[in-house]
Amino acid sequence: MINDSRAIVALDFDGRADAEALVARLGDACGHYKIGLELLTAAGPGLVEELVGRGKEVFLDLKLFEIPDSVAGAVRAAGALGASMVTVHAMGGTGIMAAAVDAAREFPGLRVLALTVVTSMTGSDLADIGIGATTDEQVLRLARLAMGAGCHGVIASPREAGALRGVLGPRPLIVTPGVTLPGGEAGGHGARAGTAQAALAAGASHVVVGRSVTRAADPVAALRRVRDGR
Ligand code: C5P
Repeated sequence: MINDSRAIVALDFDGRADAEALVARLGDACGHYKIGLELLTAAGPGLVEELVGRGKEVFLDLKLFEIPDSVAGAVRAAGALGASMVTVHAMGGTGIMAAAVDAAREFPGLRVLALTVVTSMTGSDLADIGIGATTDEQVLRLARLAMGAGCHGVIASPREAGALRGVLGPRPLIVTPGVTLPGGEAGGHGARAGTAQAALAAGASHVVVGRSVTRAADPVAALRRVRDGR
């Protein structure tokens, strides 16, 4: 059984009304939401403040990859909204990750997570952009770089959680999206998916689940299945 704050529900909607309806439907069953670029752009930052005001944790998935000053500014803006997690691309290198961590210092509740390799990418996608490493090698390399830059944790696929925990030790957050419902319903989750139970057992600190819950006929029951593992 996974407790509330370890299972993060991704509010991947194109407007505020659908997001608010889902949050109302889940009620006390969910205390932790992820808002990405689609909803942030469509609904505006007021939704983040509203959720934070209602006692929810908000992971603002900005996937920052910019010059350090711009990254720092975006991280401060996320902190001012009350976000508890924000993402930066590790592929952007130490400079932008360190800028993000530095900017987050004035917000004690804000954690900077480094996105290693986007979970839908495969080895051949890496080869296409000139990276000879396998996805596993690249994830570990970027995770080490992220720790060196002071990041609080990493985003990776369920498949990499175990190796990352072994390399990073017990403290850093390891947040895994690409999570499927128990029973192998993997459709649409990409090449490196896995269940929440498997990801957490391997060493993930949090899992992110989206459509399996948000598009379910009964989202509360679907979230319960994610948490219970059956
Ligand atoms: O696939 P699902 O609807 O559960 O996705 C929830 C979130 O997880 C998305 O917002 C996306 O950012 C992330 N995700 C991911 N890699 C995948 C699938 C989803 O990073 N393969």
